Amino acid sequence: MEILKLINSGSKRLKNKNVYSHKLDSEILLSKVLNKTREELLVNLNQKIEPQKISNFHRLIDRRSSKEPIAYILKKKEFWSKIFFVNNNTLVPRPETELMVEKIVKIFKKKDIFILDIGTGTGCILLSILSELKNSKGIGIDISSKAIQIASANSKKHKLTQRTKFYNRSLNEIYHNKFDLIVSNPPYIMRKDIKNLNEDIKKFEPKLALDGGNDGLDVIKKVIYKSKDILKIKGTLALEIGNEQFKKVSKILERNRFKTRYLVKDYRENIRCILSTLEN
Ligand SMILES: C[S@@+](CC[C@H](N)C(=O)[O-])C[C@H]1O[C@@H](n2cnc3c(N)ncnc32)[C@H](O)[C@@H]1O
Repeated sequence: MEILKLINSGSKRLKNKNVYSHKLDSEILLSKVLNKTREELLVNLNQKIEPQKISNFHRLIDRRSSKEPIAYILKKKEFWSKIFFVNNNTLVPRPETELMVEKIVKIFKKKDIFILDIGTGTGCILLSILSELKNSKGIGIDISSKAIQIASANSKKHKLTQRTKFYNRSLNEIYHNKFDLIVSNPPYIMRKDIKNLNEDIKKFEPKLALDGGNDGLDVIKKVIYKSKDILKIKGTLALEIGNEQFKKVSKILERNRFKTRYLVKDYRENIRCILSTLEN
């Protein structure tokens, strides 16, 4: 069978399973099987493919049909124009999170700071920031030991091991240090809402990365309380939050001596990140 026919048959199978990006996903999965770029595929649409590769392709289409995210099938995801290893122990890095990184890089560019990333997952936030702030250092922590393995592998991949340390710790276990910047994209989905998420997310992404407790604010509150003890005075806390959490989270920040400095909105104009400083 030729490339074009295979792309179309994969796309049709995915469309039947209501995969919105069926055509693109079919192309991406065939590129993976053939070890070619998508562009190379698309200029060789009449090339014939051997039977073994066709069955490998259909196995990947089966996985995508069951709603497994493309990033988990490929074991990688692009974030901040870099490729990060991912697997089903880590959240798939999201474009909204790049908006938080963008703001932080703008504020701290050329500064020499010490950063803590709470709930680091793939390490994408910390590693992206450090790739821009060449004199800064940071620590990433995560309650998931498997996520920490991925973050460490990403640190090696991006040649940042000299300026990073990753630890399998809960945020309750961080003491002593005083950071200039604490970043966190904590789990913030209300537990009762998890069942309403897309299948790609609820069936495959780690619950630890999603579940924010009954009101969605459990880990956010813990991050704020802990940051009060381990941030320098005038240090910055950058928190990614859920769509409708701004009012509640800003009240908690205020009650805990944080002053809001910047807000970052997503592409739909929802406030998705609060940058605040710890006051005396
Ligand atoms: C929403 S994910 C964010 C991952 C990554 N920072 C990103 O933005 O792609 C939240 C992460 O927090 C971790 N986590 C949850 N509770 C934690 C806790 N108490 N202490 C440290 N990490 C925690 C989860 O394992 C998960 O990797």
